[in-house]
Amino acid sequence: MKRIYLDHAATTPLDKEILEKMLPYFCEEFGNADSPHSAGRKAVAAVDDARDTVAQLIGAKPTEVYFTSGGTEADNWAMIGGGYAQKGKGRTQIILSSIEHHAVLYAAERLQNEGFDIVYLPVNEGGMVEVNSLKKVISEKTALVCVMAVNNETGVLQPIKELAEIAHAYGALFFTDAVQAVPHLPINVKDLGVDMLSLSSHKFYGPKGCGVLYVRSGVKIERFVGGGEQERGLRGGTTNVPSVVGLAAAFLKNVGGMSAANEKIARLSTLFLQEISGVDGVTVNGNEPRIDGVLNLRVKGVQNVDLSYRMDLKGVCIAVGSACASASVKPSHVLTAMGLKEEEAKECVRISFGKENTEEEVLLAAKVFVETVSALRKF
Ligand code: ALA
Repeated sequence: MKRIYLDHAATTPLDKEILEKMLPYFCEEFGNADSPHSAGRKAVAAVDDARDTVAQLIGAKPTEVYFTSGGTEADNWAMIGGGYAQKGKGRTQIILSSIEHHAVLYAAERLQNEGFDIVYLPVNEGGMVEVNSLKKVISEKTALVCVMAVNNETGVLQPIKELAEIAHAYGALFFTDAVQAVPHLPINVKDLGVDMLSLSSHKFYGPKGCGVLYVRSGVKIERFVGGGEQERGLRGGTTNVPSVVGLAAAFLKNVGGMSAANEKIARLSTLFLQEISGVDGVTVNGNEPRIDGVLNLRVKGVQNVDLSYRMDLKGVCIAVGSACASASVKPSHVLTAMGLKEEEAKECVRISFGKENTEEEVLLAAKVFVETVSALRKF
């Protein structure tokens, strides 16, 4: 049985062309990027190139780009490192949306234990943070405002530029987790007006275990991983040269192919919805603007774990929500924040398409979806 993979919001396959670019840095050019000898110089040259590429792709300076072990570390670092640096200035309030990724929610809880006052912004029924909700709670005490660029469960885009302007009017920092935005949207940190932004390579066909934190020059952030002077003294740890090379190459390739990929993914997503339109009681969670890659569907009367498990048995991989929370039995905090009752949130699945999916796969997956829902409803 051929597997049909429809969970690209959890992770994407590593592009084989990107793997080829990474391979020389495992066994041949394996030097430590901090060693001053020729082996080290080869490694650091590759890292410098990668940093230049990432900086250019997001409209930043190379010195504003920090490589991390992934999106979670970048999110933890922005929140905790940014929060601590602001605390010295008497700013002790952190504002974040109630639909953030667990990497951000975790950091907020840690900051709360350290004496920060944490405020969660609500979202409307469509899954979007309303700009006015920030205006109501922000003050001169606010250290940091954090709202993600695209929600990982619903694909809903958030009004980052407007929110960042409000944060800055009060002298607060603004951080956005853009992990789910790439490869679907172009990112320019200047246009968005953000102080910090996180990315994760494995969401855009690059390797796992590698991410980016952009920190605008002039913004003070405390180190999060210490013990080494890497990343200009702010992030200790031997640089993961093959992955950094892969991240930059994957980012570059996907920005180049973005329009074609988005067009294809939009077609596949529409096709899937058309094919399942005969099934009663299916609604899409999250209003436009949304990325086409993510479809969050409520299937009335069907438990999401049953649907995903049975579809998996038939070779179709879909998600019940964020993979990072799949060990949890709790319903999605994103969907309940949008007003769904806990029981309703447990009827929701996430189907996310990728550029390598085909029409044939989508037709087959839709057929499996229709048959499985029907069987579960009879049962
Ligand atoms: N953040 C990833 C997800 O949403 C892992 O599944």
